[in-house]
Amino acid sequence: MTNLPIKTREMHSHHFDSTIWNDFKFRNDDIVISTYAKAGTTWMQQIIAQLLFGGDPKLEVAEMSPWMDLRLPPKEIKLELVEAQTHRRFLKTHLPVDALCFSDKAKYIYIGRDARDVIWSLYNHHANANQMWYDALNKTPGLVGPEIGKPTEDIREYWNEWCQKDGFPFWPFWENVRSWWEIRDLPNVMLIHFSDLKKDMPSEIRRIAAFLEIEINDQYWPKILEYSSFQWMKQNAIKSVPLGGAFWDEGAKVFINKGVNGRWMDTLTPAEVTEYESRAKLELGNECAEWLKNGDS
Ligand code: A3P
Repeated sequence: MTNLPIKTREMHSHHFDSTIWNDFKFRNDDIVISTYAKAGTTWMQQIIAQLLFGGDPKLEVAEMSPWMDLRLPPKEIKLELVEAQTHRRFLKTHLPVDALCFSDKAKYIYIGRDARDVIWSLYNHHANANQMWYDALNKTPGLVGPEIGKPTEDIREYWNEWCQKDGFPFWPFWENVRSWWEIRDLPNVMLIHFSDLKKDMPSEIRRIAAFLEIEINDQYWPKILEYSSFQWMKQNAIKSVPLGGAFWDEGAKVFINKGVNGRWMDTLTPAEVTEYESRAKLELGNECAEWLKNGDS
């Protein structure tokens, strides 16, 4: 049997302040959405919002579902905000399990996505970020560790550096996936894969609803699907993307970018692909590496 995880460390960086969880008061129906990053966090926030509120296009999802361990706004402000929420809370994290305060009261959904797809998405996020993004991350008081700099112009170089320095300039990847995979048997943990969500969103949403014990009213089902679709989310990105997309000069649509996998196939060489896939098996074991690559189906 899997034991309830215990927090063993804090994570601080240009993005992280994991200490927020130490002061967070869990409620019995809390939902925590977790990913490494760029794996469908916003998609899941949108799906859960639609499930909770019965298909509503006006929901300000980014505001309703803050990224708890992002170090801005400061934790005091964020804690007050979530404490004041009266609806069922659905909060976002990018931490590995051992840097969280894991509670048996909450339900946790972790979304996996192949690292190559994650990085192709992250590169777009990073390369298009404006000065406001750099200032927010680097100039907000309390920075621990180095500032985040501009990415290289060449995505292959970006990928190779990220692999060599495990997650640079963001945070380690393998431990993140591994930590969630290890607790997948806990009754309050559900793993979802980006590819499965993409292949069959209706079935995956029904599975998510069952896990969260949310009854789906048939009347709202078509709306739930419509407002969770890529096309709708791209058109209405301002509501679901953090700060309405203010960190990108081109706006929130940059964040809801392509919504597809495999864009790395034209760029990475067969040798780079083999190297990555061997590393994934070494870091995660065969079963988890296979899941991360292809999902369950
Ligand atoms: P791409 O950059 O590959 O397009 P996160 O929210 O974790 O940062 O993940 C962002 C990724 O999820 C982006 O991937 C984005 O396009 C994708 N995404 C968001 N909503 C989606 C949807 N409804 N369908 C498919 N992909 C979606």
